[in-house]
Amino acid sequence: MGSEPIATIARIEMLRREAEVALDAAKGDAALTAWKGEWLGKGGRITSLLRSVGALDAADRPAFGAAVNAASRTLEAAYEAAASSRQADAMASALAAEAIDVTLPGTPPPRGRLHPSTIILRRMLDIFAEMGFQVFLSREVELDDVNFTLLNHPPHHPARDMQDTFYIAGTNEQVLLRTHTSPGQIRAMGAYAPDPIRIVLPGMVYRNEKITPRSEIQFTQVEGLAVGPHITMANLRGTIDGFVHRYYGPNRRTRFRTSYFPFTEPSAEVDVSCGLCDGAGCRLCKDAGWLEILGCGMVHPNVLANGGYDPAVVSGFAFGLGPMRAQMMAHGIDDIRHYWGNDVRFLEQFG
Ligand code: PHE
Repeated sequence: MGSEPIATIARIEMLRREAEVALDAAKGDAALTAWKGEWLGKGGRITSLLRSVGALDAADRPAFGAAVNAASRTLEAAYEAAASSRQADAMASALAAEAIDVTLPGTPPPRGRLHPSTIILRRMLDIFAEMGFQVFLSREVELDDVNFTLLNHPPHHPARDMQDTFYIAGTNEQVLLRTHTSPGQIRAMGAYAPDPIRIVLPGMVYRNEKITPRSEIQFTQVEGLAVGPHITMANLRGTIDGFVHRYYGPNRRTRFRTSYFPFTEPSAEVDVSCGLCDGAGCRLCKDAGWLEILGCGMVHPNVLANGGYDPAVVSGFAFGLGPMRAQMMAHGIDDIRHYWGNDVRFLEQFG
């Protein structure tokens, strides 16, 4: 009789070892859960040993029960250890997967840059600032009166057709997108009269034209305006030459050709000697030797009067130049549509 419990206790020991080997082999959460059910669950192989306790001698039962309980506790502890090391492993590998090596060089974020039209505008404004011209900003949505009439275009004057206009709907053609920066002359005179003026006025202008490689419906201009006593055409020439020599280089020459604008009298268009052939004629200047860069003239007495000045006391000059066209010539940009095409391969080449 005495040998049977010993054999039974030895069996408990064997089962416990088998369970331990199985636990070692159980990899992963599902395997661990299955192991727990198989060995320690309600009908588990260790737990159900207690059911055979009734077949034993009463004297042997306590030792047997204690042995089963001990095995059960041991396995329970082994299971807890395995489960928590499994959790620690999962945490460690998750951390490893998400690890950031702060010593690695970073990925630089793409850097923004100024738009080429802004770059050229600022460069020109810097030059004029150096020459004593202050920046004056005016509105892009203008009154027809200011864009045309006060600039000496009477209603139905054919010169209005020089610039095709976007009108703002519902305003009976009284409000429009400025077709040039010249209405800013009227705004500036209104702000400064009767004091002298020396300003540059940059910004976007709009023309209702067909978009082609050479013409856009929106582009920038820089207007210049000087008003005061004794301002002459020589001051205009000196200013234009000063700008050309700073912007294009000291060896470039200028040429004034008579022209017509309703708001200047006399009026001129200015050419600069071609930088590629120095006047000999080439592909860039289309064999002319010269490149047209701006329109200008002495402010018309009617315009001075409309601006609040007495044309008997002050005179003035004005000019308007197209920075984008100057930039296109300088960089050999052959299609103005690149400017608003938003292709970064174009935009990235500037600045
Ligand atoms: N406003 C004219 C244009 O857009 C240019 C200009 C400005 C001419 C000032 C004379 C004086 O063509």
